Amino acid sequence: MIKIGLDYYPEQWDEDFLPKDVEHMKKSGVKIVRLGEFAWSRIEKKEGEFDFGWLDRAVEEFGKAGIEVMLSVPTNTPPRWLFRKHPEIIKVGRGGGREQIGIRGHRCLNSQVLMEYADKITKQIVERYNASENVIGYQIDNEIEANWCGCETCNKLFREYLQGKYKDIDELNDIYGNQVWSGDFVDFEDVTTPPAYQNAWLNPAYMMDYARFAAKSATDYCEKIAELIRKYSTKEVLVTTNTWFPEHLPDYYKLYKNLDFVGYDNYPTTDVSNMASHAFHLDLMRGIKQDSFWIMEGLSGAPGSWGPMGETPMPGMIKGYALQAIAHGADTVLNFRYRTAKKGAEMFWNGLIGHDNVIGRRYEEFTDLIDCIKTFEHLGISDSKVVSEAAILYNVEDEMAFKLQHQSDGMYYLKSHMAWHRAFTRFGVGVDVVNGREDFMKKGKNYKILVAPCLYIYDEVTEKLLHEFVENGGTLILTPRSGVKDKHNNCLMKELPSWVRDLAGVKVKECDSIGNKQQKVLLLDEMWRKHLSDINISKPTDFDYIVSTQWCDILEVETAETLAVYASKFYDGEPAVTVNSYGNGRVFYVGTYFDDVGYESLLMSVLGKHDLKAIEAYKDGREIKGTNMYTILPEGIEVTKRVAGDRVITFIFNDAPVRQTFKYKGNEYDLQPFEMMVIGKL
Ligand code: GAL
Repeated sequence: MIKIGLDYYPEQWDEDFLPKDVEHMKKSGVKIVRLGEFAWSRIEKKEGEFDFGWLDRAVEEFGKAGIEVMLSVPTNTPPRWLFRKHPEIIKVGRGGGREQIGIRGHRCLNSQVLMEYADKITKQIVERYNASENVIGYQIDNEIEANWCGCETCNKLFREYLQGKYKDIDELNDIYGNQVWSGDFVDFEDVTTPPAYQNAWLNPAYMMDYARFAAKSATDYCEKIAELIRKYSTKEVLVTTNTWFPEHLPDYYKLYKNLDFVGYDNYPTTDVSNMASHAFHLDLMRGIKQDSFWIMEGLSGAPGSWGPMGETPMPGMIKGYALQAIAHGADTVLNFRYRTAKKGAEMFWNGLIGHDNVIGRRYEEFTDLIDCIKTFEHLGISDSKVVSEAAILYNVEDEMAFKLQHQSDGMYYLKSHMAWHRAFTRFGVGVDVVNGREDFMKKGKNYKILVAPCLYIYDEVTEKLLHEFVENGGTLILTPRSGVKDKHNNCLMKELPSWVRDLAGVKVKECDSIGNKQQKVLLLDEMWRKHLSDINISKPTDFDYIVSTQWCDILEVETAETLAVYASKFYDGEPAVTVNSYGNGRVFYVGTYFDDVGYESLLMSVLGKHDLKAIEAYKDGREIKGTNMYTILPEGIEVTKRVAGDRVITFIFNDAPVRQTFKYKGNEYDLQPFEMMVIGKL
């Protein structure tokens, strides 16, 4: 069953709000609430003195209303008495000083003392609510990031981690390149967590080890708390944590390995000039466990507090983004939050109801969402899953490494992932975003096209899987910065794209990091040119050239065929894009970053030549220059499918601030801004 719910903070309101709020939520059809993820100081005011009265009443009140509760283990905000007694649990910053407390997230996840107290509070909470039938699970902490901390414990554990990894200090010195600036460590005691220099100024192999260690600390912490929850629970409970895309990346795949499902905090931008990436992030979240996920916090009002207030969600956004998440595989959506906080630093991060406590447009849209969901059940949505025939590989370590050393002005790891994702979306082709470091073809996946952007750090699993994939007839698309680094984040002394060179059938002669400047790419391939002119129909320009930016790999073909060449600078005429036959499959090497039409027109060729079942379905609906070959959906229109047996539920979403009228598979559609149309066939 798809559930819609809310994040609610009983500790922030006078007690007489509770019955009225619960009654109101019940009437609206709310099925689940999340409570208490920051409430430690209100549960345990002084060490060992517990006050569960307010939480008991809330759990009970929701229980009477038939509303389920996800409780939390509130370690994101340890109480002040604990910080005062044990200041050693406070994180230490890059400069070596302890952080000042007063906001949240100050705790070091490696602190043994924190773990002892976390154990006690977890025991208290879980044992107390074992008997409450409506308590169905727990969220651990809040938005756990990799634990970048320089406290004594972290220093000690980091050294132990390295001692477990390297034979001796000489091996470590050698791998880190400590000879370069006379930085050789005398022994492991010399090694510390990173000093306060810019990441890129420190040895990349060292920083990579640290990023891995910090991510592992977050995973280990979560696993220990999950174990405690399961130990103290006398019933089956769901255990998760909520996540997003923080600066200090956790390893999502490891973080969630032993948790029951992925919880994502989904705050799509309300700024309509910058809207294209929501779907990509949802697909990445689904790909973490290759399964359904939850939205733990969903957009409900204007963002604010952490910066100046943003635009209020346009009519349709609150409902539309919840439905979009469901279309991409979410099974439960909780909106953040019921009512906007009256006090505290987040008082301008808006909830569904404003400070005036009057039910207005946003809450009404939320109830409209609930009503809409009720109509889904007869379509058999509950056991349905998103099925895709194309995938984009995401490697968390590659993103970590890109964050440590920016490759080019304006270029970031996910840039080409999102560009390719947008291109697939224009053709109505669903895409999974999957971990390249594990068997992404498991669970019966049958991808025909794989985009593997920036295979930066060598990985033997990815190497093997990609070779098998292409040998068996798949189409693989490679991009710049592939094959650059070894496992330690040092440069490979090989001609690029090194370990995928045989697949690509090209070598990179030289690279030009052009940043935000532009390059021109001349298309030699007739079909590609035609597709470019097809796509550019509304803005006819020059159909021979595509604009490119950020990075140019200057290629030399070995076994590949050239599809496009650069058209300026000293490498005018040199290959930029190639295709190679390998085994039963093909490999495209796209040596630069295009604008959207570049990706769309190239993908059109890829889809066209490929015998894709998913694509066949679109051949009837398309109307570009009467070729009757493809559907190009208007920008912002997304078609997603959830499948259960032979049932297919199709979601057509208008992720754009304007009304859009278009044809799809022979039918006319007319969608208002952020409108979702759901078509279920039995
Ligand atoms: C999330 C966080 C919430 C709240 C929300 C709005 O990232 O988990 O606790 O802070 O953002 O700022």
